[in-house]
Amino acid sequence: LKKTIGAAVVGRHLSSVEQTPSGPAPLYAQTLAREFNVLVPANEMKPKSVHPTAEEWNFAAADAMVAFAEQHGMAVHGHTLFWPQDRHTQEFLLAINDPAALQAQIVAQTRAMVRHFGGRVRVWDAVNEAVGRPGHVRRLLGGATGYEHVALAFRVARDELDKLGHRNVKLLYNDNNIERPSSDPKARVNLVYGMLKDFATRTPRVPVDGVGFQYHIGLGGATGAEWRETAQRLIDLGLTVSVTELDINLGRDEVKSPELLRAQRDKYFGIVQACMQLPACTGVTTWGFTDKHTWLKAFDPDGVGSDGPNPYPAPLLFDESYAKKPAYYGVLRALRLLSTPGPTG
Ligand code: XIL
Repeated sequence: LKKTIGAAVVGRHLSSVEQTPSGPAPLYAQTLAREFNVLVPANEMKPKSVHPTAEEWNFAAADAMVAFAEQHGMAVHGHTLFWPQDRHTQEFLLAINDPAALQAQIVAQTRAMVRHFGGRVRVWDAVNEAVGRPGHVRRLLGGATGYEHVALAFRVARDELDKLGHRNVKLLYNDNNIERPSSDPKARVNLVYGMLKDFATRTPRVPVDGVGFQYHIGLGGATGAEWRETAQRLIDLGLTVSVTELDINLGRDEVKSPELLRAQRDKYFGIVQACMQLPACTGVTTWGFTDKHTWLKAFDPDGVGSDGPNPYPAPLLFDESYAKKPAYYGVLRALRLLSTPGPTG
């Protein structure tokens, strides 16, 4: 029974050096390599980064991160082959109005990305955030209600991996705000379930291996117990589950009280514990690891965007100086549950 513990990484920080009491040290790279066994490039494998225009392919930044992971015995989790939202899809692709030509472009670029990384990427968020949102790509390829563009991406990626002989590379469907169960049939958690159930029961089935739960939350977000319920329904379809982008923000206050930090610790514990309790949960990845470099400083999860970026969300396991926060010890305690024999041994 093995689980992974991963972190999303911003490539340019890997070479940064911090001032410490005992002199300069590469704390970002050191902490990452010491504490995690999976690396996810936060941006460098997105279609917009790798293939920004019809003429350009940039694999250098992603390749450097793959090399770092390999040097440090970490697996690489790729993010992402297809992100069918207008904001995250390349403009040249969005400008294609003929469905057949659009389909050909998606097939070609998906194959090219899979081929480039081959077996060096162990698992892909093959498709990111496709459900419950409007958008050009979906309108042209999926119709009003279908998810044929999602099915296409999975089939093409799996087919390319098969041709390359990389049958062990896993393909996930990844999304946000799907952790908590809901009785509303229109809630994203239920739309995702419906799509994946449809995919799992087709002949031949659409080759989705598992579901990635982004799990970007605040202290009021889905508890581990709530998420386990959602996860179990998907596991019953034959899928694995993974927590792929976990962070737990503490809002906008500059001073983080010990109470808030303990509440954050307990929330982290509950979520990682839920993964430990589910044999089909492959692991947990946090979206970053130090509060010094969290994407939430520039992105306001509450949508209070007019107030500008949120400067103090403190959502991660290490503080701004790379010291371990209470949240770190919450995760550690949950991870240790794996190696502790239960009552039946
Ligand atoms: C974020 C990155 O962390 C930022 O650096 C970037 O500016 C925007 O994207 N869900 C996802 C990720 O699937 O790709 C997002 O990453 C965070 C939310």
